[in-house]
Amino acid sequence: MEGKKLINGKSIDLGVCYYPEHWDKSLWPEDLDRMLEAGLKTVRIAEFAWNLVEPREGEYTYAFFDDFLNLAREKGMHVIFCTPTATPPAWLTEKYPEALNADLEGNLICHGSRRHYNYNSPVYRRFSRNITEKIASHYGPHPAVIGWQLDNEFNCENDLFYSESDTVAFRDFLKKRYKTLEALNRAWGTVFWNQTYTDWQEIHVPRKTNTNSVNPHLELDYYRFVSDSVCSFAGEQAEIIRKYCKEGDFITTNGVFGNLDYQRLRRESLDVLMYDSYPNFAYCLDDYQKEDSMKDRKWSRNLAEVRAVSPNFGIMEQQSGANGWNTRMEAPSPRPGQLTLWTMQSIAHGADYVSYFRWRTCTFGTEIYWHGILDYSGRENRRLQEVRQVSGKLEKLQEIAGAKYLAKVGILRDYDNIFDCRVDRWHDRVERVSRESLFTALQQAHVPFDYVYLESHETAESLKQYEVLFYPHGSILTKERMEILEAYVSAGGKLVMGCRTGYKDMNGKCVMDCLPGLAASVTGTDIPEYSFVAPDEGKIMADWDGALMEAAVFNDILAPVGETSKVLAVYTSGPYAGSPALIRNRFGRGEAYYFGGAFALDTAAVFLEKLGVAEPWKDVMELPAGCELAVREKSGKCYLFVLNYLSEPASIFLRKELRDLLEGCAISGTVRLQPYGVKVLECPVQQGCAADFEKCF
Ligand code: GAL
Repeated sequence: MEGKKLINGKSIDLGVCYYPEHWDKSLWPEDLDRMLEAGLKTVRIAEFAWNLVEPREGEYTYAFFDDFLNLAREKGMHVIFCTPTATPPAWLTEKYPEALNADLEGNLICHGSRRHYNYNSPVYRRFSRNITEKIASHYGPHPAVIGWQLDNEFNCENDLFYSESDTVAFRDFLKKRYKTLEALNRAWGTVFWNQTYTDWQEIHVPRKTNTNSVNPHLELDYYRFVSDSVCSFAGEQAEIIRKYCKEGDFITTNGVFGNLDYQRLRRESLDVLMYDSYPNFAYCLDDYQKEDSMKDRKWSRNLAEVRAVSPNFGIMEQQSGANGWNTRMEAPSPRPGQLTLWTMQSIAHGADYVSYFRWRTCTFGTEIYWHGILDYSGRENRRLQEVRQVSGKLEKLQEIAGAKYLAKVGILRDYDNIFDCRVDRWHDRVERVSRESLFTALQQAHVPFDYVYLESHETAESLKQYEVLFYPHGSILTKERMEILEAYVSAGGKLVMGCRTGYKDMNGKCVMDCLPGLAASVTGTDIPEYSFVAPDEGKIMADWDGALMEAAVFNDILAPVGETSKVLAVYTSGPYAGSPALIRNRFGRGEAYYFGGAFALDTAAVFLEKLGVAEPWKDVMELPAGCELAVREKSGKCYLFVLNYLSEPASIFLRKELRDLLEGCAISGTVRLQPYGVKVLECPVQQGCAADFEKCF
């Protein structure tokens, strides 16, 4: 990223999403002046504006955005330009309906909303390359342009594709993967229910079937195929932009959605990933969950997902007003302070660029209630004042630019298992519970954590920064991943695995090994029996030295194997009472733990406590449950962000004197945070908390 014009480790910047085409041109100059005055130095434009460059097939006109870019240059405003492929024009879809996506029954999706195309139509690919070429070659050299956004939110609205072109491309994808039909038939177990294929033409993307299920191994490959389609579509655009963009201009895309391997997308096409952060979804009227204590704080989990792709990332769209389409997603305006809180939440997690969605609320279309900083009139308002205050605050946080998020706990993920959860409800059910409760328990114990993708050989080296790694339900395991994990444990790491580990291969087929399959050796565990928790059994509990933990959803009944393996907890209720529920195996210099259930909230909390990673900053500060602690580290300094998500004031207690960056003074003892208040405190790097790793990676 060195040399890039944003997110380059040198500054933390603000920007805003702007739609020049939504406003009379006479408003542009004043809009840009007011943005700059508020500290918004970059605008993102044009992601839905195909017709303004190609109003009819093969007819090009550049004047509209030339005028805007020239004005931006004159004013000193930077611009992120977008490829407009999320909304193909009506002239295109009418003449070439094969560009449209189709539903499960093969009916074409109609024009009229957005993201209505499919990635594999050769015709659409041609148009997408062409418009990218026209836009990049014309606007790329413009000095106001500093970066490029590919499309808009790949796989948002819909991440399933069933057009004829998808079926054709799916066959090609499978031919590359399996080479022969025999290999494919074996991989998918097509002998079951007489699904054997004798010709590639017989294979289709999932279709409506009698039981509403398709072959699960086909379905797993289908999700991989969707991801592959996005990566290849995005890759074509990135390659074209790279030919024309200026030295230092960056390529990004926005959002995190389903059926897409973002690690690959970033590797192949992006300099950096940006996220669209709408914590206000937590307050949507139709799904406001009273029992969910995390609410908008959950966006920290999403930000951890983004950080796993780009350690320092950007927010392309940061909530700045009420949510709402005319058809759905009704949520209130951010309360005073929340706009600051959510911006700081993003920065606390590693964002070095935050761009608000959007400048002025649109007066027409589906998003008339999706408010921007300004309301329809554009008059001065409270939210713009708050944005101004945020930019004032950021002036004081500039030294944090490029700082790394500091976490000693990691949660391992991989796309094979993520996609398998889409196919397999048994898998998804345990994963869902553990994902929610691990996050909540980590938050409540103020433990900063990372998601870590078990991807490449680089992972082995980088894993040693984590004292504890959870790999909750890696049902699909591979030898390569297990080698990485074994190296991590034998070098001194602590690995925690949960029920349903290791029972599938890469095709999603169940292995015939004794479970937990490839994880048996590192965990010193055998699983002679297993079962779902029956609905009439209530909570199945396990006892770990007096700490009671729920073994939720599913129970693996365990047996220790070998001298290094020890039973730490037994089931205390249910049909398996008295049988082992948790085994610890000493492996090399480290330890692997196998727990027989999904991690309920109390269970996750017990693990954090027993493994010694709860409240890692307790020597420095005491925090109430309602506050999040996020830590960034750079050049021997830690920056502790304390975020109060509550509408009431909160008190923290500082055991040491720390520098309050926003106030510019040293503070200690009891410190009060306003409702939705934020503190950013500087502290020397903590010593002695890293695991004692051998240098054997
Ligand atoms: C995002 C999208 C924007 C806008 C916003 C509010 O998902 O990128 O274009 O639609 O949501 O709905």
